Amino acid sequence: MQNENTMNRIFASSISKDHIGQNLTLIGWIEDFRDMGKIGFISVRDMTGNFQGVLTAELLSTFRDVPRQSVILVKGTIQETKAENFQVEVKVEKVELLSKAANPLPIDPTGRVKSSMDKRLDSRALDLRNYKISNIFKTRSYLLNLIRNFLYSRMFVEVNTPKIIGSATEGGADLFGFEYFSKKAYLAQSPQLYKEQLTLGLERVFEISSYFRAEPSHTVRHLSEFVSVDLEAAFLDYGDIMDIVQELVISTINDLFVHRNKEMALFENKQEILIDKIPRITYQKCLEDLKSLGEKIEFDDDLSDPALKKLGEIYPSFYFIIDWPTKLKPFYILAHEKKPELSRSFDLQFGYLEIVSGGTREHDSERLRNKLLEKGLDPKSFSDHLQTFEWGMPPHSGCGLGFDRFMMMITNSTNIREVVLYPRDTERVSP
Ligand code: 4AD
Ligand code: MG
Repeated sequence: MQNENTMNRIFASSISKDHIGQNLTLIGWIEDFRDMGKIGFISVRDMTGNFQGVLTAELLSTFRDVPRQSVILVKGTIQETKAENFQVEVKVEKVELLSKAANPLPIDPTGRVKSSMDKRLDSRALDLRNYKISNIFKTRSYLLNLIRNFLYSRMFVEVNTPKIIGSATEGGADLFGFEYFSKKAYLAQSPQLYKEQLTLGLERVFEISSYFRAEPSHTVRHLSEFVSVDLEAAFLDYGDIMDIVQELVISTINDLFVHRNKEMALFENKQEILIDKIPRITYQKCLEDLKSLGEKIEFDDDLSDPALKKLGEIYPSFYFIIDWPTKLKPFYILAHEKKPELSRSFDLQFGYLEIVSGGTREHDSERLRNKLLEKGLDPKSFSDHLQTFEWGMPPHSGCGLGFDRFMMMITNSTNIREVVLYPRDTERVSP
C-alpha cells in the first residue's frame, strides 16, 4: 500500500517550529495513549523518534480500542505544544489504521515491563521497538561501515570466500559437518586459508562474514554462529597488523563518541575506552603478573578463564598479549626464528574479553607441511592449500576480529546475545 501519503510522510525527528501551521503526514507505531475524555494524546514512534498527536473527542471514540503498537497514518496540522518532551505537536485531522497489533503482545516493547532475555529473543522483531535495543543495531550497522571504510583507506580489498567447505579449515574438531549431495561438507569456522591464498593475487584482503563453531560452550561470549572481520596482508609482520588493529580500534571509537554520542551515552559507555595507544604485553609477562596474584600458570598452558579475569583486573581496558607459545597457536602461525617455542602471534584483549587473534603466517610450503605434521594434521587434506604456496606466496600476516565481541565492548553489554539479532547457541536455533 505504498501510496502517495506514505511516500510523502515526514519523520518524527524532522518536525520543528518551522512547520507550525503546515498540514503534514506522519506514520508510526502507537506507543502511548492518554484519554482525557474530550481530548486525547497519542505518542507515536517511527524510526527516528516519537511525535505527539492531539485527538479530538470524535477521533478519540474511534481510536479508544486500537491496541498499542498498532501502525497508524496521521494527517494533521503542526502546532505549538505545552508538552516538555516535544518541540511541537500534531493536531490530528485524519487517522488511518494501517495494521492492528495483537493485545496482549508477548513482551512490552517499551521496556517498562521487563522481560527475560529468552522471551525477548523469542520476539526479537518486537524487541527492536525498544529505543535502546534498536540503537544497538543501528550502531552495529554504523560501526560496520566505519570498519569497511577504514580498511578501504588502507588499500584492503573486500572479498567473499565460501562458507561451505570440503575439509577442516584450521584443523580442530569444532566444525559443523553435513551431507552435501554425495559428499561430506562443513561450515567454515574462519576464512583463514582462503584469505592467506588471496594475498598472492590481491596483497591485502578483508572479509566480513558469519562463521560457525560447533563448540558446546555455554558462555556469555561464545555463539555457534558469529561475525568476524578477517584481514590478511602481504609483506606485513604481526607488529604491523597490531598497528592497523590499534588504529582501527582507536579511530572507530573516537568516531562513535563524536558522531554517535547520544547512543554512546545511552549505552552508558565510559569515555575511558577512548585511548591513544594499546600496550603490548608478552605472554611471559602475563604469567609473571598472574603469579604475583597467586595464579600459577605453566609455560605452554593456555590462560584459563579465571586467569583472564585476573588479568582483566590489572589491565581493564585494551591490551595486546603477544608472543604466545607456539604450542598454543594453530599450524599456520610463524615461530620466532631464535626462540621457536614462541610464536609471532597476538590477541587483543579488552579486560578479560578476547576480541582479536592474529599473527605472522608461515609462508614456506615445506615448513608449513612439517607444522601440519607436528600438530597431528594430515598434509594430504590440505593439498589444495599447500600447492598455492608454490606459486609465489608472499610473506604475510593477518587477524580475525570478533565483531560481536567488539560490539559487546562498544555497547557495554555483558552478554553477546544482546548485540546479535538472532543468536545461535547450543540451545537456540530459532527464530
Ligand atoms: O581467535 P579465533 O578463533 O581466530 C581465528 O579464527 C583466526 N583464523 C584469526 C586469524 O586471522 N588468525 O577467532 C577470531 C575472533 C576471536 O578473537 C573472537 O573475538 C571471535 O573471533 N570468536 C568468537 N566470537 C563469538 N563466538 C565464538 N564462538 C567465537 N570464536 C571466536
Ligand atoms: Mg583466538
